[in-house]
Amino acid sequence: KIIKVIAPATIANIVCGFDVLGLAVNIPNDEIIIKITNIPGIKIKKIFGAKLSKNKKKNVISIALQALLNKYKKANIGFDIEIYKKIKPGSGIGSSAASAAGIVVGANYLLGNPFNKIELIKFAMEGERLAGGVPHADNVAPAIIGGITLIRSYKPLDIISLRSPDNIWISILHPEIEIKTSDARKILKHKILMNEAIKQWGNLGALIAGLYKEDYSIISRSLEDVIIEPIRAILIPAFNELKINCKSIGALGGGISGSGPSVFMLSNGKKKAELVTNVMKKIYSKLELKYKIYTSSIN
Ligand code: HSE
Repeated sequence: KIIKVIAPATIANIVCGFDVLGLAVNIPNDEIIIKITNIPGIKIKKIFGAKLSKNKKKNVISIALQALLNKYKKANIGFDIEIYKKIKPGSGIGSSAASAAGIVVGANYLLGNPFNKIELIKFAMEGERLAGGVPHADNVAPAIIGGITLIRSYKPLDIISLRSPDNIWISILHPEIEIKTSDARKILKHKILMNEAIKQWGNLGALIAGLYKEDYSIISRSLEDVIIEPIRAILIPAFNELKINCKSIGALGGGISGSGPSVFMLSNGKKKAELVTNVMKKIYSKLELKYKIYTSSIN
């Protein structure tokens, strides 16, 4: 049996929900072709679109799949894998998560769905541990469940699927510089001030209320990060200019996607999102830096 899995890019944090919020988009996405065989072992046959290690211990796909196989415990099962990466590693839009999520969802299907979604997320998190040093779930959870997800707790893992209003569209700009999640986490403060925490959880609660009420004014006011963004923004060329200009033409708000360098903006409606994407393009075409740009709905 052989299948093709389409694994979506994801935007972790959604500004005010560091390590707990994430959403899946329709584009870009990766394709993974998986064949189940009776020859034991994980074989990565081809990788297109990115230079990634085929070494079992250094590859997100092998690590996540091995975590699944360790629980499955039946012998004489193997997988041949081809990966078509369209989400660039180090882009901040969940490249490693797409690989990890895609492989465990595909393998689970080929095995007759022995595992539930929470178990699959746990396997995929092992891939994230390799990629980012920490097994965060804010990319793999939306990649596996779809839509917008909230991680209420890591121990025990408790994930809540949130309502996503149909009209929310997303503009994504990916400057082609690589920021490793592990590096972008090292620079963060480990202690935060009470007044910052109060602002942050006020925004997080309000953002979720805004999604449920479909109140774009609340959503817009809540897209504020007083803890992580001030530290990471310096890594991203023209970050403030992007934010100010996109908001001035009517974007609801946005910020750094995951650990960057990608930047995203949410808009009410596709037309507005396309305008915002164009503003991003204008600002970046002045810089001597390659970039990719997408307008997408929520997956
Ligand atoms: N929550 C993680 C971070 C996401 O911001 O470090 C990484 O994609």
